[in-house]
Amino acid sequence: MKTGTVGIACDHAGYELKEFVITWLEAKGYPYKDFGTHSTASVDYPDFAHPLALAVEAGECYPGIAICGTGNGIGMTLNKHQGIRAGLCWAPEIARLVRQHNDANILVLPGRFVSLDEAGKILTEFFGADFDGGRHQARIDKMKVEE
Ligand code: RB5
Repeated sequence: MKTGTVGIACDHAGYELKEFVITWLEAKGYPYKDFGTHSTASVDYPDFAHPLALAVEAGECYPGIAICGTGNGIGMTLNKHQGIRAGLCWAPEIARLVRQHNDANILVLPGRFVSLDEAGKILTEFFGADFDGGRHQARIDKMKVEE
């Protein structure tokens, strides 16, 4: 995928995996912006999810990576934003498919449920895959909730 500045956000349960993800991004040469949190002290994931979502929607960051314990809370928050397609990925093949079929603009990782080795494979698949378009674009076009 063609990337810009990668945005990354987590809560306390995702902090250790976020540090690994940052090491991975640096090793691959991807520029990134870290939206926090910056320690394992307990925080509320929406406080970090919303700024990341706004930055991705504004085009300041692409793609995003978000991590909480299960990936569900931070992913649910991100997907409240109309311009966000945040996909929860716990296996490399899901990460490839969430790009190819869903054009995900944020990768969500469950920090308490993937090993660092598995996370590295998930990142490789996500960053290496492009959107297939076609019938998948038509489906994405139907996602929007009219206000
Ligand atoms: C934090 O304990 C945990 O609830 C959070 O990281 C996440 O898993 C929520 O969905």
